[in-house]
Amino acid sequence: MSQVHSLNPAHGGTLINRIVTPEQRQVFLEKAETLPRVTLDERAFSDLVMIAIGGFSPLTGFMEQADYDTVVTDMRLANGLPWSIPVTLSVEAAIADGLQEGSLVRLDDVRGRFVGVLELTQKYTYDKVKEAINVYRTDEDKHPGVKVVYDQGPVNLAGPVWLLQRDPHPLFPTYQIDPVASRAMFAEKGWKTIVGFQTRNPIHRAHEYIQKCALEVVDGLFLHPLVGATKQDDIPADVRMRCYEIMMEHYFPQDRVILAINPSAMRYAGPREAIFHALVRKNYGCTHFIVGRDHAGVGDYYGTYDAQYIFDEFAPGELGIMPLKFEHAFYCKRTSTMATTKTSPSSPEERVHLSGTKVREMLRRGELPPPEFSRPEVAAELARAMQVAQDV
Ligand code: ADX
Repeated sequence: MSQVHSLNPAHGGTLINRIVTPEQRQVFLEKAETLPRVTLDERAFSDLVMIAIGGFSPLTGFMEQADYDTVVTDMRLANGLPWSIPVTLSVEAAIADGLQEGSLVRLDDVRGRFVGVLELTQKYTYDKVKEAINVYRTDEDKHPGVKVVYDQGPVNLAGPVWLLQRDPHPLFPTYQIDPVASRAMFAEKGWKTIVGFQTRNPIHRAHEYIQKCALEVVDGLFLHPLVGATKQDDIPADVRMRCYEIMMEHYFPQDRVILAINPSAMRYAGPREAIFHALVRKNYGCTHFIVGRDHAGVGDYYGTYDAQYIFDEFAPGELGIMPLKFEHAFYCKRTSTMATTKTSPSSPEERVHLSGTKVREMLRRGELPPPEFSRPEVAAELARAMQVAQDV
């Protein structure tokens, strides 16, 4: 364990662990039938998991009002520590009315399994529009993150949590690497500097380019695709992970790259989420974090580099993880290489850059994305997955 602490410390100084011990588990199981129940949706369950495994350190539970308020207005917890996204458990008023502050609440997953316990310290109402405007920079319900806020219940249940039950991930058990384990792996490899990479899309060559540019200046690359809830039209996590496996096999040096899943749900909060994504990767032990074009953005809600500018709103060292900022990368036909406008003399017509949306459209038409955009093995995998989805 001492090795673990020699790495970049967790946010707030201590890596949180809210996974029950076998003894605690027994105590909770004995009380199970007597406790009031709340069912967690997919996002709340993934938040419970992230809190418990330390991915959301220093949070030990769902946010109380003091933290919620300052996070929404100032991007800080009540104690001043930077934190940019509310982590809340919202329920309907009728459910909240049946729960008493000071009591234990049994948390079930959508399948009705007893997965956690909340020590309910506070229930409070909150202003959804204010949350939307401050966190998502829009009050439009077309925004997928805002829609989730508008659809959720009006009362937040707050307090420390414990995680009781966690299965190996049904699809990616070997990539279920928690912060304690990633830290141990980094230490074992002797890496001092590690860059984290967030993604919710299939890997393309611009991703690969910025990952490898970053890896040139640090010891290790932590590929950390998000596999929690995403919006309907995003490519499913299993397809994305297969693309990453292909890349690991053919295009990455095995000893410099670790592939692991991030169980979190996507918020699509652009700049605010970039800060959040960076802090989460800090908890996994990363020292650096990649922020490219329109990080965690959706539609046209954010400017191309807003997710980079937001890092300037914090004093140097306050976040405890260094953003590595990349301009929009493309394939440059003039120099026959991946590049950005910083490194390429090309004119716009000489640049191949495709958006995820364009690629999805091509795949739907049965066309393969070109090799300038996607490695051929990855393109083939995407085409195969698209075919299977259309046949179903
Ligand atoms: S995200 O919602 O998880 O940010 P995505 O998986 O597309 O979406 O992006 C992962 C990371 O790669 C983000 O930091 C994003 O800014 C960056 N990125 C994606 N495409 C490009 C590109 N063409 N040029 C530069 N950075 C990019």
